[in-house]
Amino acid sequence: MSRSKVLYQCQSCGYASPKWLGKCPDCGGWNSFSEEQRVTGLKRQGTAEPVALSEISASTGARYSTEIKELDRTLGGGVVMGSVVLIGGDPGIGKSTIILQSLKGLTKLGKVLYVSGEESPEQIKIRADRLNIASDEIILLPETSLEGIISVAQKINPKVIVIDSIQTIFSIELPSAPGSVGQIRECATKLMFMAKKNSIPLFIIGHVTKEGAIAGPKVLEHIVDTVLYFEGDKGNPFRILRAVKNRFGSTNEIGVFEMQGSGLKEVDNPSELFLSERPENVPGSVVTVSLEGTRPLLVEIQALVTASSFGVPRRTAIGVDYNRINLLVAVLDKRLGLHLGGMDIYVNVVGGLKIDEPAIDMGIAAAIASSFKNKTIEAGTFTFGEVGLSGEMRAISQAETRIKEAAKLGFKKGVVPANNTGSVKGSDIEIIGVKNVEEAIQILLF
Ligand code: TYD
Ligand code: MG
Repeated sequence: MSRSKVLYQCQSCGYASPKWLGKCPDCGGWNSFSEEQRVTGLKRQGTAEPVALSEISASTGARYSTEIKELDRTLGGGVVMGSVVLIGGDPGIGKSTIILQSLKGLTKLGKVLYVSGEESPEQIKIRADRLNIASDEIILLPETSLEGIISVAQKINPKVIVIDSIQTIFSIELPSAPGSVGQIRECATKLMFMAKKNSIPLFIIGHVTKEGAIAGPKVLEHIVDTVLYFEGDKGNPFRILRAVKNRFGSTNEIGVFEMQGSGLKEVDNPSELFLSERPENVPGSVVTVSLEGTRPLLVEIQALVTASSFGVPRRTAIGVDYNRINLLVAVLDKRLGLHLGGMDIYVNVVGGLKIDEPAIDMGIAAAIASSFKNKTIEAGTFTFGEVGLSGEMRAISQAETRIKEAAKLGFKKGVVPANNTGSVKGSDIEIIGVKNVEEAIQILLF
């Protein structure tokens, strides 16, 4: 019995079903199925030769600098030849901009083929002028068909390929629309084969859906070697480039940029930037130290606690986990007797950062207590530490790195978990070890 040629696929996770479904049993998405052609008749293309590990030369792992330090760092020290890098992010966040800027360094490798399915060459030229990039080695190709791209690539033999964006590219061999899971998988796979065969880096730009996943996400993330997400608020000039998958490096590195009139500028000292507009001696503001990859980052956490005018108080968390706020509010209520039950509580990490690390618990708790009691925390003081359910302060990793960074920025006093005090020696910053939140709050809000 021959199988039907048509199948239905979830456009967000790639789950396939012979029937149309209203809800995806895999990812739970509603109304995400659309018709795709079943790919049949995969052909074997010769047999691969087995090789001894010791015989493989490591030179294939050579890295090339994009000459953007923050991007190199996020990539794990530069671009690896033959690697496929996916850059995802909301529309307008700066994906095309960072790629274009990186070409300044990458044109050293030779010709760059910049495939643009979204913008005309004129539009790209205007942007390149703005970014002060002019090179004969950058070849623009306004093409959306995969077959066309591959044939041009074979002709001009580029040393780097950029696809902007994968959602606009389609293969004529598939009947489904550009941007569908089938098309994205087919195009990304063919392009990846080309990159691996010629040992050239391939950059793929991908848009992100409302839910925060790259459209056709899982399929694409499996195909590529490195996934970088560009994060940031539209209304805020700061942009964070985060590695979420990296076959050639660590996944917790970040790069920090600021969007300016002439493109993205690297931010060498993000802590300074994030603290630059901090109001002094205002209740509800506290500085804590988070660790992003290998980098300590001083950030300001703000809280606003006001009497609620509704039956159910509001709790709003921006940049931190909502459940964490609820937990810390419960701890403050129970252990310190702060009556937060009838209060609206807003917590915000300044600068549009998103932090997902228990080390900032103490910062959040201190900000809430400070706003509630309307008492300020001294300007030169910081705090960090994980808060347990019984109000105990738990030690966190790499306390020394964090304290050093704070000392570098002129902080005078740190309130940290007692078990973390041993790690600091010889710095002229006053470090106070505390065993629980109660002690910490007493010292911070004198
Ligand atoms: P872009 O790279 O086109 O975003 P994406 O490719 O992710 O959709 O960036 C677009 C935004 O960046 C746009 O709103 C304008 C802003 N921008 C600047 O502020 N300065 C610049 O030099 C450039 C090139 C863009
Ligand atoms: Mg773009």
